[in-house]
Amino acid sequence: MPDNSRWIKALNLTDIVPNDVKRWDYGSRSFAIFRTAEDRCYATDDICTHEYAHISDGFVMNHTIECPRHASSFDIRTGEALNPPACINLKTYATKIEDGVIYVDVG
Ligand code: FES
Repeated sequence: MPDNSRWIKALNLTDIVPNDVKRWDYGSRSFAIFRTAEDRCYATDDICTHEYAHISDGFVMNHTIECPRHASSFDIRTGEALNPPACINLKTYATKIEDGVIYVDVG
């Protein structure tokens, strides 16, 4: 089975304060990259699945992000849409941290 992973250097871990999110643009795509209080990182698409809004402008609370436009929340670990109006999950991407650098598998 082919390995379609494509690890791209995204941000330094210190670019994101714990329990927060930062937008990262790669090509024509926007990602939301999260750093938890435990220094774990997660990445999702940055555009809300409901209408056009950047999730990274929203409010992070533990393992959820609240969309700034209509307040749907998503689980940052799974992308699961937790309350309406959004009903489609966010796409998630694998991340890894090496030497203080966050890599995202955009493949
Ligand atoms: S645009 Fe995100 S909930 Fe509506």
